[in-house]
Amino acid sequence: MYRTVTCGDLRITHVSQSVTLAGWVQSSRNLGGMTFIDLRDRYGITQLVFNLEDNEELCLAARKLGREYVIQIKGTVRERSAKNANRPTGDVEIQVTELVVLNASSVPPFTIEDESDGGEELRMKYRYLDIRRNPVKEKLLFRHQIALETRKYLSELQFTEIETPYLIKSTPEGARDFVVPSRMNQGQFYALPQSPQTFKQILMVAGMDRYFQIVRCFRDEDLRADRQPEFTQIDCEMAFVEEEDILITFEGLMKHLFKTILQIELPDFPRMSYDEALRDYGSDKPDLRFDMKIQHLNDSLKDKGFAVFDNAELVAGIVCKGIGESYSNKDINDLTDWVKRPQIGAKGLVYIKYNQDGSLKSSVGKFFTDEQLKELAQKVGAEAGDLLLILAGTHDATLKQCGELRLEMARRMNLMKPGEFKAFWVLDFPLLEWDEESQRFFAMHHPFTSPLPQDMHKLNSSDKDTLKSIRAAAYDMVINGAEVGGGSIRIHDRALQAQNFKLLGFTEEEAEAQFGFLLGAFEYGAPPHGGIAFGLDRVCAIMQGSTSIRDYIAFPKNNQGRDMMIDAPSALELKQLNELGVSVMQK
Ligand code: AMO
Repeated sequence: MYRTVTCGDLRITHVSQSVTLAGWVQSSRNLGGMTFIDLRDRYGITQLVFNLEDNEELCLAARKLGREYVIQIKGTVRERSAKNANRPTGDVEIQVTELVVLNASSVPPFTIEDESDGGEELRMKYRYLDIRRNPVKEKLLFRHQIALETRKYLSELQFTEIETPYLIKSTPEGARDFVVPSRMNQGQFYALPQSPQTFKQILMVAGMDRYFQIVRCFRDEDLRADRQPEFTQIDCEMAFVEEEDILITFEGLMKHLFKTILQIELPDFPRMSYDEALRDYGSDKPDLRFDMKIQHLNDSLKDKGFAVFDNAELVAGIVCKGIGESYSNKDINDLTDWVKRPQIGAKGLVYIKYNQDGSLKSSVGKFFTDEQLKELAQKVGAEAGDLLLILAGTHDATLKQCGELRLEMARRMNLMKPGEFKAFWVLDFPLLEWDEESQRFFAMHHPFTSPLPQDMHKLNSSDKDTLKSIRAAAYDMVINGAEVGGGSIRIHDRALQAQNFKLLGFTEEEAEAQFGFLLGAFEYGAPPHGGIAFGLDRVCAIMQGSTSIRDYIAFPKNNQGRDMMIDAPSALELKQLNELGVSVMQK
C-alpha cells in the first residue's frame, strides 16, 4: 500500500497511530536539529518532522528533498507544540521513521501556492503544475459536483443520458464549424458538432422522450472570457411538452444545483419578454442584481432646441443613485471617454447632477431651464444627490449603449455584490434576425425553433417588418447578466419546417441536402418537443462569481485558440496530408 491515509486526513484523535503517507513536497524548513516538510496531496497538507538526533541519515536525506519531489513516508502521528489553526491537519505532525523518494522534480517554473507568481500563459503551459494549486483544483472539483448533481436531478425525472456522435455534418448554430477530413471519403469532411441539436430532436422522434447529455460542443468563433472553442453543454430535450413544462423542469434543475452545492434557495425565477429586456436594460441578458432601468426620455427632451437630442431617434438615460455630488468633472470626462470608445460607440454623454441644496449642474444647462430638468427628475425618479446620465442616437444603438453604461456604472458604484444571485427567464425572442450585409434573415436561435402559435399566421407575409415581428417559443435563462442556458419549442411538422427553411433563404434542394434526415424523420410521427442547453462551464463560473470559464476547464485554450501545453494546433506531415487528400497552401 502506497498510503494508509491522505495528507488531509489526520486529526488530534489519530495521535500515536502509525501511518504511511505519499505526496509532493510543498516546502521544507531546516531549524537546526529539526527539518520540517509540508507534504501535499489532493486532500491537504500534513507536516512531517525529521529529527537529526533521532536519525541523522534520514534527516540529511530529508534536507536534500526539493520542491515537488514525490515521496512516501512512514511514521507516527504526534501532537504539534505550535498548532496551525488555518489547516485542518494543523493539530498534528508525523514523526518520520522511513522515507522513500518515489520521484525527483525539476524546480517548478512558478510557485505551487494559492497566489502563484506564474503568469497565465506559463501556468497553461505547465497546467499539470497549475492544477496542483488549490484554487484550480477546487474549481475542477466544483465542476464535478455540478455534473454529478445534474445527473442525479435529471435521472430522478426519468431523463436518459444518451451519447450522440462527434463526427457529424454541420449543424447551423451560427458559428463556424471545426472540420475533420475523411481519409476514407477523400475530399469530404465531417464537422464537429456545435451542439447535438438535430440528434436530440431525432431522439424525440425515436421515442426517447426525455434525453440529456453532458456533452462537448465545438464552435470556431472569436474567443472571450466566457467563450471557449470547445465547451460543455448540459443538453436536454423533452417530448410531449409545452414551453411551461420546460421552464419549470429546468428552473428546478438550477434551484437544485444552488441548493445542494451552494446551500442557497433561489426564489421562483421572474420572467421577462425579450422586448422588455431590451427596452428596460438594453440587453437580452440584463444583470438584475441592481435596478437602474433605462429611462426613455424622448417626450421630455426632444424638440426643445438641442440639436443632438432633436436629431436622435432615441434619447435615453440612467439614474445613478447618490453619486451626483461625489462625481467630479474628471469622473464625468473619464466616463465620456469610456462611452466614446469604439466598443461602445456613443457620440457623447450628457449629465445632470441634482444637488442636495436643490441646485443642479448639467452639460445641457444652456438648452433647458432648471424647471424642465427638475420636471424630468420627477419623471425618472431622480432625487437630490443623484446623477442622470443621458445618451442619444439611433434607437437600437442607443439602447445597447445605455445597457453597457448601466453595467459600467454598476461596476464603478460597486453594486454587484459577490454571493448575490438574480436568476430569471427571458422569453419570446424574435424568430428571425435580418442581416443587412447578406440581405437575408437568419434564425435568431436556430432554424428548428417554433414560432409562437399566436404569431404563426405572420409566416406567410412578404413584409420584412411583419416577419421581424414574429416571436419564437424561445427562452434564455440568465443569471447575474450571463446567458447560462437557452432553448426553444421545436417545429415538429415537416411542412412548417420546410417553410421556415425557405424563410431563411434555403432552396428546397439545399434544405433537403442539409436537413433531409430531419425532414424525413418528421414524416414518421414526430411528437411535439422542445428543449434547452446550459453552458456547464458558464454555470460553474457564475455560481462561484468568476468572470472566466477557463478556470473550470482542465485544459483550456488561450485567446488564439491554442492549447499551450500540447502546442496545438500544429502542422501535419506531408504524408498524413496526402493520406487525407488535403493539400495545404504554403505560407
Ligand atoms: P446555444 O447556442 O444558446 O443553444 O448554447 C447553449 C448554451 O451554451 C453556452 N455556450 C457557450 N459556452 C462556452 N463557450 C462557448 N463558445 C459557448 N457557446 C454557447 C451558453 C449558452 O446559453 N442547441 C441549442 C440549445 C437548444 O435549443 O436546446 C444551443 O446550442 O451558456
